[in-house]
Amino acid sequence: MVCQHLGCAVEFSKEKNIYECPCHGSKYYRNGVNFAGPAPRPLNHFEIVLDDSGKLIVDTSKIVPLETELVV
Ligand code: FES
Repeated sequence: MVCQHLGCAVEFSKEKNIYECPCHGSKYYRNGVNFAGPAPRPLNHFEIVLDDSGKLIVDTSKIVPLETELVV
């Protein structure tokens, strides 16, 4: 959820179905790929696991390459 330009928090627009950065206008598709503005690369993707109690755990210390996520 952190813009890859200078680190502002991106917001999801339900109306546009994209992520937008309020700081300098970078835009990202739903899969995190940047397509407008100064962001030089896609949003980071993190490892997500389902624990034994049924909770989704997002591990922000483990960045998943975008190519791997698209294959799953
Ligand atoms: S920090 Fe997001 S566009 Fe600059």
